[in-house]
Amino acid sequence: MTIRRATAIGPANIAFVKYWGVQDAALTLPYNESLSMNLDRCLTTTTVEFDPALNADEVTLKLHGQDEQPATGRPFDRVAAQLDRVRALANIETQARVRSENNFPSDAGIASSAAAFSALTLAAVAALGVDLSERELSVLTRRSGSGSACRSIPTGFVYWRNDGTDAGSYAESVAPPEHWALADVVAVVDPGVKSVTSADNHRLTATSPYFPVRLQEVLGRVEQTLTAIRDRDLGQLGAICEADAVSMHVVSMTAIPPTFYWNAGTMAVIHGLRRWRNEGLFGYFTIDAGPNVHVICAQQDAAEIEQRLRALPEVQFTIANGPGAGARIVEQG
Ligand code: DP6
Repeated sequence: MTIRRATAIGPANIAFVKYWGVQDAALTLPYNESLSMNLDRCLTTTTVEFDPALNADEVTLKLHGQDEQPATGRPFDRVAAQLDRVRALANIETQARVRSENNFPSDAGIASSAAAFSALTLAAVAALGVDLSERELSVLTRRSGSGSACRSIPTGFVYWRNDGTDAGSYAESVAPPEHWALADVVAVVDPGVKSVTSADNHRLTATSPYFPVRLQEVLGRVEQTLTAIRDRDLGQLGAICEADAVSMHVVSMTAIPPTFYWNAGTMAVIHGLRRWRNEGLFGYFTIDAGPNVHVICAQQDAAEIEQRLRALPEVQFTIANGPGAGARIVEQG
């Protein structure tokens, strides 16, 4: 009766073309394909120990700047459900102890659940010695319900392909982190918990009259983003990021009921970026399901952009990231 254990690190990721809208919530199958970059500085480290002495799963979370706390309610249920999927593959029923730690503020509008569910899935699979390809691992991670987590499995710049089937909705790397010296400077204008979760809004997208328009646009954007990444074309990537974020938020603002994630700070950053571009400093916005703004720029401009963002009264703090590796094992056995 041995304990089987592994520790994995999972990165957050920022989408250039967003996943917005779920076709099949049970399998977390999106309507559209998406593209992202893993972040090198926003990480979750998770240890999973399958222990025959346990009668139930135990999950503790250590969020940045807070004491370790047992997970309860929905967060616990989501972790236990993902452990169940891994146990089914390994054909065992042993319960597990899970300890997860974030090195970045989980309320900063950075996809903390993508970091968390990629680390959890990889650690659980490694602990039980389940033999999966990277593609199968991303499919399994996608099924956690945090779909964007599947993009945190492969390295660097990542394409979540989707043909509407379970096996055909997976993420793969299109370029390693060192391919392009890009930065994502996150400008936090409101560190509070988001008003409506992505999960709730993924189910509402089809109620927006603009959703069919968005789906049409996204087809072209995916192709253009692949080209922009290949050619390291920041102007092209920036234009896509901004158009795609606006389109996602238009869908959110016109869904029934609508959600408005942006606040005055969001607009202050958008206007700041547009002013700075006129002066020859090139940063482009993208915005997830919250008011905080991710500024995509060349690494050589990141310090100047970070300094200007911090000088805006609406910006509370910033976090600068480069492109990062995918989820990886740091300890096993
Ligand atoms: C706006 O359901 O994957 O970030 O709410 O963090 O679990 P969580 O995220 P998920 O939705 C992500 C929505 C998004 C866009 C994106 O990352 O593609």
